[in-house]
Amino acid sequence: MKVQEDSEGGNPVLALSKSARKTSRTGPEGKSRPTENTESQLQDLSKVVPDAQSRFVSGIGELDRVLGGGIMASSSVLIGGEPGIGKSTLMLQAAGAFQTLGPVLYISGEEGAHPIKLRADRLGIIPSNIQVLTTPQLEPILTALNQVMPRVVIVDSIQTLMTDLIDSAPGTINQMKMTVYGISEWARHHSAGVFFIAHVTKEGAIAGPKLIEHMVDAVLMFEHSGSEVRFLRASKNRFGSVDEIGLFIMEEKGLEELIDPSQVFLVERETPVPPGVVAAPIFEGSRILVVEIQALTIPAQVGYGRVYSDRIDGRRVSRICAVLEKHAGIRLSDQDVYINVAGGMKIAEVGVELPLALAIMSARTGQSLSRHLAVTGEVSLSGELRPVSHLRQRFVAAGELGFIHRLGPKVTDEARWTSVAHISEAIKKALEFRDKDQD
Ligand code: TYD
Ligand code: MG
Repeated sequence: MKVQEDSEGGNPVLALSKSARKTSRTGPEGKSRPTENTESQLQDLSKVVPDAQSRFVSGIGELDRVLGGGIMASSSVLIGGEPGIGKSTLMLQAAGAFQTLGPVLYISGEEGAHPIKLRADRLGIIPSNIQVLTTPQLEPILTALNQVMPRVVIVDSIQTLMTDLIDSAPGTINQMKMTVYGISEWARHHSAGVFFIAHVTKEGAIAGPKLIEHMVDAVLMFEHSGSEVRFLRASKNRFGSVDEIGLFIMEEKGLEELIDPSQVFLVERETPVPPGVVAAPIFEGSRILVVEIQALTIPAQVGYGRVYSDRIDGRRVSRICAVLEKHAGIRLSDQDVYINVAGGMKIAEVGVELPLALAIMSARTGQSLSRHLAVTGEVSLSGELRPVSHLRQRFVAAGELGFIHRLGPKVTDEARWTSVAHISEAIKKALEFRDKDQD
């Protein structure tokens, strides 16, 4: 195929740099992966020695976390998000971080070198090992790749890419796919890591990014939260977990990592909390975030009650409402139920169920709960409560944030929280904590 010939063929510049790399690079990050033999070959699996693949660690903790500990050499990552969310900013900051590991090539089909430099200045990046190539064309891109021999490649954005290899009009899907393929193949054969930026509309409607998801090793989505927080979330990751989220805030000088998430996800209050509010230690990826779940109920505006919830799956909310109605005697079928998560995080984790139930109970009955209360647990259809993963760590984390009342499901060792077996018991205990505060 022509792309492979261009990138892998007997290019003298390529051959020279390749041997130079072998002698000049040491250390875990700089380790060069043996060139993979992709030609058809029959091999005894027991004799295959896996490559000791290395990762490039940016040092931007929240990015590395979502990647699974840095970007894998020879891999490609798609970074999607709405226009203006901060993809170019994040990737330029990443370029600034990765340049200490080796050459970085920043390919822009969108902007000229001038605005990129201005942004770098604004971000306080001192480029010492970053090359910029402003073209959307695969052919000059491959030439530049072979010249620069980058460790990390950034492509901004896939929507601009085109190639003469395919006879269709510039900017068509096939041209984009072919170009993405050409660049990622180059990266795969040269132990580089490549980030492809992709614009995605609110509905995720643009076909482009979807069509290349299967061609890359990881897909990260950069999302708004409704607050100033930005979430970086993996929807696919061949080399890491898809549960991890990265948290950033867009500041004057670019994206800052969110070091203390509780500042955003908990609401500071001097006064007692209003009805409908409960704190929940949620396990996201590898860490615990304590978030505030908020509920509001009002008499149904049409003949039957409806659920309005875009941060927690509406079907989960409906199910919890049904359990409350059936097993705790709280009438909700004639109510509209609104659910929110402070800070705008989406929660798909099962441990949110008991806090959700208590928030809805509190909203519906007008009885507020203790502001020192943290709750987690799964609620089954029978009204029974079930343990969730990492219970102990969740309550330790909540304790560190000053939640002295902790309520959760029964397990054998339950010294760190008040354990309850049924939803009605959880409601009773939660109200007792409140009364205790008032004494
Ligand atoms: P950008 O990275 O260009 O978004 P994308 O590539 O996803 O379209 O930047 C998004 C917004 O961030 C832009 O409106 C300006 C703002 N911004 C800051 O607030 N601070 C900064 O330091 C930078 C570089 C951008
Ligand atoms: Mg951009």
